[in-house]
Amino acid sequence: NIMILFGPPGAGKGTHGPKIEDMLGIPQLSTGDMLRAAVSAGTEVGKKAEAIMKAGGLVSDDIVIGIIRDRIQEEDCKFGFILDGFPRTLAQAKALDKMLADEGACVTKVVELEVPDSVLEERITGRWIHKSSGRSYHVKYAPPKSMKLDASLKPIPETMTDDATGEPLMQRKDDTAAALTKRLQSYHGETVPILAHYKPNGVVRAVNANQGMDGVWGEILASLQRKA
Ligand code: AP5
Ligand code: ZN
Repeated sequence: NIMILFGPPGAGKGTHGPKIEDMLGIPQLSTGDMLRAAVSAGTEVGKKAEAIMKAGGLVSDDIVIGIIRDRIQEEDCKFGFILDGFPRTLAQAKALDKMLADEGACVTKVVELEVPDSVLEERITGRWIHKSSGRSYHVKYAPPKSMKLDASLKPIPETMTDDATGEPLMQRKDDTAAALTKRLQSYHGETVPILAHYKPNGVVRAVNANQGMDGVWGEILASLQRKA
């Protein structure tokens, strides 16, 4: 079971990934989360990635391919995994195919979350995340239980805390309108072409991600149940 959760920034990869993880018992591997952890820890990779990520650019193929190569060799990936944010270029897709072929495996499903660009700015600029778990919230669509608004109906930052741990939430440095424009450019220019690479294998399932989260989840479930 090797799944790719595919879609633009704000499509819902990080929202639905953990639910698929719970359901199938295989880990969600988010290159974005792994890179953000490297930035926080100040590792060599983190130092190289920090400015690129903040501006909404793509980190080099070598770095992310290396991260995934190491990660999928770990014990918990033995029965499969869910990729979130990888592959993002044709070179990454080909490197992934090669790694998997060496183990006699291949990508078994690509779930494509389809959303028009026009709705993504609101999703991205309203997102708050719990850093250590990667859980995401939204001021309008998925507010934390603790959220309080000020007189102008803006959330009061100190009240933005994680439902499970009570720890503070934060906003991502790349969740600005300017960085989103760049992220969308690389999504359409470099990432979307990967779909044509997987389509001949009959593994791509499109899901309408421009609806409420429950509706999206229902379609994801249906796409997973449908035979490849
Ligand atoms: P990454 O972390 O992968 O970011 P991304 O692809 O831009 O995707 P997002 O995390 O922004 O979106 P999501 O789909 O997870 O949305 P979410 O579910 O949170 O990558 C970050 C950066 O790292 C890249 O720009 C790049 O620099 C680098 N990087 C990572 N991987 C790389 C790679 N392979 N190669 C090179 N560089 C790489 O939802 C968003 C918000 O909307 C949330 O607040 C959520 O609550 C809300 N929401 C979700 N669904 C709905 C809905 N149906 N209705 C209303 N609101 C919703
Ligand atoms: Zn994400």
